[in-house]
Amino acid sequence: MNLLELRHVTKSFGNLRAVNDLSFEIEEGKITAIIGPNGAGKTTVFNLITAWHKATSGQIIFKGEDITRLRTYEILKKGIGRSFQIINIFKNLTVFENVRMGVLARAGKGMNFLRSVDNQSFSAIREKTTELIETVGLQQWANTTATVLSHGDQKALEIAIALSAEPMLLLLDEPTAGMSAEESQYTTNLIKEISGKTGVTILFTEHDLDMVFFMSDRIIVMAQGEVICDGNEECVRSDKKVREAYLGSEQ
Ligand SMILES: Nc1ncnc2c1ncn2[C@@H]1O[C@H](COP(=O)(O)OP(=O)(O)OP(=O)(O)O)[C@@H](O)[C@H]1O
Ligand SMILES: [Mg+2]
Repeated sequence: MNLLELRHVTKSFGNLRAVNDLSFEIEEGKITAIIGPNGAGKTTVFNLITAWHKATSGQIIFKGEDITRLRTYEILKKGIGRSFQIINIFKNLTVFENVRMGVLARAGKGMNFLRSVDNQSFSAIREKTTELIETVGLQQWANTTATVLSHGDQKALEIAIALSAEPMLLLLDEPTAGMSAEESQYTTNLIKEISGKTGVTILFTEHDLDMVFFMSDRIIVMAQGEVICDGNEECVRSDKKVREAYLGSEQ
């Protein structure tokens, strides 16, 4: 089943068409990569799906429902979570506190949880928080302040926070940006593991092609706001337009 569909989506910034009549579908349970050169429109696609930006035209369909005109928080509630190109966590809180914020938000308790949570839901929240921390392998850091974590562990924390909303679709914009080779490998393995453990559908962007080939069930290649290739590793490697736009024509 298709979880997400983009139908002829365009986003213009002034005269620039950052996304140009773009259509694709994302299948449930799969890991799909969107790759392409700088400025291809990848982040803009994520911003459109999560309503950070409003599409100039076209439709975005999630679980059969048109979400094009919904607001960001409504889209989050429908089951789309995301992490950013730049890490987005509360650095002065512990890992546990960070994840618990997400769990509380999901439970609709917001910041008033101390007043509004009874004992039973308090332990349910604790359990859920612990489970998410284990899912991303951060149990030994649960009581550590986020700021001292390695870059890879901070990304794992960010993913745990995103998962606390129990998304069906998780968008990861360059999850290994700025990481060492070792940290990138760790994060890539973790994402694959999370997909296997939770069954969450993943759509991600990444510049390192080895990572992309290792992780993805399917690869969508964008250039200048358009899809120029859609398939698997073999198809991407053999496509002339991809070699010209992305890999460099000499390869
Ligand atoms: N808020 C904005 N206002 C104006 N132009 C924008 C805005 N956001 C993106 N753009 C432009 O849209 C185009 C696509 O940008 P986008 O960030 O989506 O590319 P990208 O594929 O994510 O690139 P990168 O690989 O560098 O992250 C670029 O030309 C960019 O300058
Ligand atoms: Mg980007």
